[in-house]
Amino acid sequence: MAKIIDVKGRRVWDSRGRPTVEAEVIVGRGATPLAAGRAIAPAGASTGSGEARSLEATAAVKNINTVIRDALRALSVADQAAIDARLIGVDGTPDKHRLGANAMVAVSLACAQADAAAQKIPLWKKFAGNRRVALPVPQIQIYGGGAHARGRVDVQDYMVICNGAGSFAEALEWTAQIYAAAGARLAKRGLLAGVADEGGYWPAFKSNEEPLAELVGAIADAGLEPGVDAAIALDIAATQLYRGGRYHLALENRSLTGSELHAMLVGWLERYPIVSLEDPFAEHDAAAMRAFTQAAGDRVQIVGDDFFVTAAARVKDAEGACNAVLLKPNQVGTVTETLACLEAARAAGYRAIVSARSGETEDVSIVHLAVGWGVGQLKVGSFARSERMAKWNEGLRIEEALGARALPFPARKLFKISSA
Ligand code: PGA
Ligand code: ZN
Repeated sequence: MAKIIDVKGRRVWDSRGRPTVEAEVIVGRGATPLAAGRAIAPAGASTGSGEARSLEATAAVKNINTVIRDALRALSVADQAAIDARLIGVDGTPDKHRLGANAMVAVSLACAQADAAAQKIPLWKKFAGNRRVALPVPQIQIYGGGAHARGRVDVQDYMVICNGAGSFAEALEWTAQIYAAAGARLAKRGLLAGVADEGGYWPAFKSNEEPLAELVGAIADAGLEPGVDAAIALDIAATQLYRGGRYHLALENRSLTGSELHAMLVGWLERYPIVSLEDPFAEHDAAAMRAFTQAAGDRVQIVGDDFFVTAAARVKDAEGACNAVLLKPNQVGTVTETLACLEAARAAGYRAIVSARSGETEDVSIVHLAVGWGVGQLKVGSFARSERMAKWNEGLRIEEALGARALPFPARKLFKISSA
């Protein structure tokens, strides 16, 4: 059984050019190094207030090189639960502010990588064991907005889900066509103005609804049938819009009550082929979230991101507020706690989506979590910028390696095909 010999922290840079934390874990038998694993912490911009706290990168790196290194040396690298319990115990705070969630998540994932390397298996296989697995269905951003585009439009993510695709590779082929078509439409109108933080087009639109019509147009321009081949997913990230009990749509110069927002979203569901809505209401507006899920939850996936912050306890207490959970390991700090949240979601009958952050890197560990844990969906931003493409491309490699051993790609099952 390989043991942890050394843990190193390193200050590296993320996709927004901001410092972040890399951890490297070296494992061996006795003092002889056998394998190593590496992981980098991502960073959010539209963070939920309940998220675990990250430290400034230099302070987090120092913690890795001192107290974390001392705490983990000689532990068995295969025992992820024990490693994560040790990290949680040494941190000793409810919000991880002593060690820093960025330090903890980088180390937790790097241990998993090192164990897979020592066992000479891919990371997804460490999590899957002998269970058969499928590739997750991608949610891919076409226009970025909200906190990722200086509030240019209020809604944060306008995404596609290729619900008619028969494989991960086919979903990416179709998304490439839709992304190109969406860009061509903007260029034709003289509105092409670069990309937002996750690689989606900069949203040069006059209303929050206009991108929905544009997206339907782009799907059709790509030669696909809206709602049948490719449908729409939105992240409203409504916590960002909520002040004084109202939802502020700065682009449209108006603010809505919870019930007005509810009515607006129901209208969108009637007019556009939307199959998933994330954080349609604010993290502190649980009653509105619950009412919306009661009204629309049988037609559409309703995802809690800021609302759950990957916390198993919040999912257990949700009482039907959503019907799906976003899983972001750095919101909670460790692999084991992320898995606990997935298990809570499954116990509640909720779906799950593994997600990246708006600040990302070349690290592809989360793709392996999604595959290995059998999570049906994956959200890592748009179809541009290599911190995003690295993850889509990793999915392609895994799909190829699985070949005929893969379970069927779950897109058609998860998102029932219906004409728009
Ligand atoms: P963040 O946004 O990474 O900036 O928090 C992603 C999301 O809201 O899903
Ligand atoms: Zn979100």
